[in-house]
Amino acid sequence: MILAIETSCDDTCAAVVEPSGRRALSNVVHTQTEHSRYGGVVPEVASRAHLERMDGVIEKALSDAGVTLDDVERVAVTVRPGLIGALLVGVAAAKGLAYARRLPLVPVNHLEGHVAAAYLEDPDLEPPFVALVASGGHTALYAVGKDRAMRLLGETLDDAAGEALDKGARMLGLGFPGGPAISRAAEGGDPGRYGFPVALREKNSLDFSFSGLKTSLLYRIRELGPERVREELAHLAAGYEAAVVEALARKLLRAAELQRAGAVVVAGGVAANGRLRRRLREECSERGIGLVVPPPALCTDNAAMIGAAAVHTPEISWPGYLALNARSV
Ligand code: KG4
Ligand code: ZN
Repeated sequence: MILAIETSCDDTCAAVVEPSGRRALSNVVHTQTEHSRYGGVVPEVASRAHLERMDGVIEKALSDAGVTLDDVERVAVTVRPGLIGALLVGVAAAKGLAYARRLPLVPVNHLEGHVAAAYLEDPDLEPPFVALVASGGHTALYAVGKDRAMRLLGETLDDAAGEALDKGARMLGLGFPGGPAISRAAEGGDPGRYGFPVALREKNSLDFSFSGLKTSLLYRIRELGPERVREELAHLAAGYEAAVVEALARKLLRAAELQRAGAVVVAGGVAANGRLRRRLREECSERGIGLVVPPPALCTDNAAMIGAAAVHTPEISWPGYLALNARSV
C-alpha cells in the first residue's frame, strides 16, 4: 500500500492507495476553517493547523482503509508547489514515518497529483490526453504524453480561475472559498443579464486571463451600489461564473482539437464546478471526445491523487531523502 500525504495549502490530507494507483482505500481531508474570516488562506495559520491535525489525519486514513503501518510499503508526499510552511509539515511527517519504517519515499508534484485524480476516477484511462488543471493557485493546460510527461500548452497570465472566483465572491460579499459560494448565489440567476468579458478569445491562444473580468465586476458593483447589488446578486454571480467557465471550456476544447486528443481530463478544485461539468459533458459528447472529471472530492485538494501520481514518480530509497526539501514553486 501507498500512504500519501498532502499539505500544500489549507487542507490536511492523508490517504491509503493501492499499489496500482487506481483505487483509494481511504481519503481523509481535514479542511481548515480558520481562514474563512480572513477571506483567504493565511500561510502561517495554515502551517500551524497542519501541525495540529497531521497525526490524527494519518491515523484516520490508516484506520478507514483497515490497514496498519505494517501494510505500508511506500510513503508519498507533495513536495511542490504550494505554501512553503504548509508543505514542510507534510514533508516532515512523511520523512519521519518513512525513515522510522525504513520505507522509500516518493516526492510528488501537486499538479501531477491533480491530473492523476483522473486515474482513480477511470481505472482504464491511459495517456495521451489533454488535461486542464484549474485550482486556487493554478490554471494550466497540458498535453499528457504516453510516458505521462506533462507538456505545458497554455496557462493563466494573471489570476488562477479559482482565485478569480474567490476574489469575485469577496467583492460580492459572499463566503470563502468563493467557487462554491458563487455557484450557490448564481442559482436562478440569468448569466446573460450582465455581460462579463472573456479574455484572449483568439482562436490560437491557449492562455487564460481573469484580471479584466475581475475589474469589470468591480465596475459593475460600483455602478449599481450596495442595495442593487444585493437585489441583482444571482444575475451578477451567474454572469461572473459563466465567464470563468466559458474561458476554461473554450480553451480546453481548442487544445483538444489542436492535439487531436481522444480524451480530456479536468482536475483541480474548480473542476468541482457544476456549470463547467455540464458544459463539458455536452460539448465532449457532441465531439466524440472522452471526458474524465473526477468527483468533487477528488478535484479539490486530497491525498488520494498524490498516491495515484506516486505510482509513476521515481521513489527515493531509505534513507536518501533526509535532505529532501519542499519548494514553493
Ligand atoms: O485544488 P484546490 O482545492 O486547491 C488549490 O490547489 O488551489 O482548489 C481550490 C479552488 C478555490 O479557489 C475554490 O474556490 C475552487 O477551487 N472551488 C470551486 C468549487 N469548489 C472549489 N470553484 C468552482 N466551483 C466549485 N464547486
Ligand atoms: Zn490543488
